[in-house]
Amino acid sequence: MRYVEPDPSLPEVPLAGGDVTEGLVRIGDTVRRPPSRHAALTAEVLRFVEAAGFDGAPRCLGTDHAGRQVLSYVPGEVASRPRPAWMADDARAVSVAHLLRRYDDAVAPLGVPPSAAAVLEPEPAGAPPRVAGTPELIGHLDVTPDNVVFVDGEAHALIDFDMARPATRTEEVQNLLLWWAPLMAPRDRPEAMAGVDPFARARLLVDAYGLGSDARSEVVAVAENTAARAWFLMRDRAARLGGGWARMWAEGVGDTIRRRQEWLAEHRATLTGAVTA
Ligand SMILES: Nc1ncnc2c1ncn2[C@@H]1O[C@H](COP(=O)(O)OP(=O)(O)O)[C@@H](O)[C@H]1O
Ligand SMILES: [Mg+2]
Repeated sequence: MRYVEPDPSLPEVPLAGGDVTEGLVRIGDTVRRPPSRHAALTAEVLRFVEAAGFDGAPRCLGTDHAGRQVLSYVPGEVASRPRPAWMADDARAVSVAHLLRRYDDAVAPLGVPPSAAAVLEPEPAGAPPRVAGTPELIGHLDVTPDNVVFVDGEAHALIDFDMARPATRTEEVQNLLLWWAPLMAPRDRPEAMAGVDPFARARLLVDAYGLGSDARSEVVAVAENTAARAWFLMRDRAARLGGGWARMWAEGVGDTIRRRQEWLAEHRATLTGAVTA
């Protein structure tokens, strides 16, 4: 669907803040994403959830003259770096869990469409196999503080669907916990979250999402497996895709992931108890 420019004289304003996407610009009340192998799935997902009445994501408006995906710009605030103090607020985190649940419920009936094949990546050599079961939906899987738009102190929209891919709800929730509990070694947590108890926060988040009891009993194992795989995936992306991936690898994201794995292994019992009890 070709996007018709309402006003061709509007300037292109670069959008910074994310780690990866180059060439992202805002034009008027739209965002343009450079062509990528994610575009077809993203468009299908965004149109599907919009038709389902879900308003917590940008709308997909078509493709512009330069082949860029046109999305609606979502006004509001994202938690860019340095992370704001409000990341410590339980109510904010709970609102992210509610938004993610609404997205997952809206997208679930789509299942795993054929357009998802284009985003699947080669299995990196040496990575342990994925332990989460058969994918049930197209998860967002990248619920970072930069990828949630807040309005009036509440999570209002998920943006940046470039990591969206077939997943289970357990995988989706472990990603939520990673960023918002957070499931990180203490030295890697944002300073704003230094006073947050990650176990109590994890419990709050699984409750707010409404994760089922089977999924709760496996979410810690899935988090550990995802972290173990992430080290190989990130190294592979750095080599294969370069750009922001290579930059993140050079800046030590691999070591951050290793520290997360150690922290998860050390606190496996406490964390499992917190989310299942
Ligand atoms: N549709 C949108 N509405 C509002 N802001 C957006 C939108 N898309 C991107 N942004 C802004 O641009 C930043 C980077 O975009 P993002 O899609 O997250 O790129 P990256 O892949 O690099 O993380 C976001 O953190 C957000 O501040
Ligand atoms: Mg982003």
